[in-house]
Amino acid sequence: MQTTIVAMRADIGSIGGHLQPSQQVVAAVREALDAQRGQLIADFDLHFTGDDITAVCTCQGDPGQTAVQDMIWEAFAQGARVAVEQGLYGAGQDIFDKGISGASKGFGPSLAQITFQERSNEAFLVFSIDKSVPGAFNLPFYQAFADPMHCSGLILSPRMRRGFRFEIMDVVYREYDRVITLEAPEDLYNLAALLRDDERFAIRSVHSRTSEEQSVAVSTTRLHYVAGIMLGRDDPVAIVRVQDAFPAAGEVLAPFALCAHVSGFQRGSHHGPLMPVRRNSGVSYFDGPPSVSCAAYCVRDGHLTEAIDPFDHPFWDQVRARATSKTLDIRQQGFFGTAMQPFETLSYGGIMGILKELDERFVIEKPFPS
Ligand code: 13P
Ligand code: MG
Ligand code: MG
Repeated sequence: MQTTIVAMRADIGSIGGHLQPSQQVVAAVREALDAQRGQLIADFDLHFTGDDITAVCTCQGDPGQTAVQDMIWEAFAQGARVAVEQGLYGAGQDIFDKGISGASKGFGPSLAQITFQERSNEAFLVFSIDKSVPGAFNLPFYQAFADPMHCSGLILSPRMRRGFRFEIMDVVYREYDRVITLEAPEDLYNLAALLRDDERFAIRSVHSRTSEEQSVAVSTTRLHYVAGIMLGRDDPVAIVRVQDAFPAAGEVLAPFALCAHVSGFQRGSHHGPLMPVRRNSGVSYFDGPPSVSCAAYCVRDGHLTEAIDPFDHPFWDQVRARATSKTLDIRQQGFFGTAMQPFETLSYGGIMGILKELDERFVIEKPFPS
């Protein structure tokens, strides 16, 4: 039986700045999706991470059309209308053409989607990230799908021996989608050369070279330039089918213990460590830290089990403490060096204005003629 999982993630308004959606907004989205259960969608689940809500929907077959996506968009729009009524910050910013609160114009929800022939044990994970970019998944997914130091299945399971195929997008390329396909293990160094840069290159999908099936779908899209600033769909979502010809759930989760520094912290302009958090966690310190949640499911005939929360386990408390201390460390250096992103990727234009203003105050010191 063919099943499609659609994971959509949007910021439709939050309380106290970019911190967390209100219960009423989440309830409005839930109610709208509930009305479609058994009709356009077989099943759904909903949660938030930071100020974005993730809707995980299933449907039987390949919807082909955008009907399911449109329906989820409309559910988010209903939530956004409640956010406007409540006066939430950034109400409708990823849904309406123009953010009603005056916040920057959104570019639509983040979308990850996979259609597959259901296995008899169809296990999958949905990761949601707040305050970062799709490229934040580069390192954990490289380690889980290409590095035997982190993924034991690459040497222990004959079903994984042929490795994986990565589709990677150059998100900075302006006109069209610019995508490259690389195969692990042959392309290992090429993969590293691209994936090192989370602001320029981002994994869009990963397929098994044994079964040819798709494991990973990330909501990777290219960026847009508006008034000299690079804007795009940040706060990504990823679907990862696990087990069998794919890494085990724990092999995909383990790399997140590193809490690697990623882009997108405070004002989309800083670097900070990616902290694994429980589902339905808001953000706080410096509008962060960048956070990743995970929901694990099994699906049968399009029907989801309840979600379990792999980061809601004592193991991750110590990891979170490490992420906190890494955050405090990098924040001590404020605007300096790698704490703040390079000029080209800042989500705010203010600093470019300062540079322009100062330009005429620079003096070119010509050497004295000899
Ligand atoms: P979001 O992308 O999560 O809305 O955050 C924006 C921001 O600038 C927070 O500091
Ligand atoms: Mg926001
Ligand atoms: Mg957000």
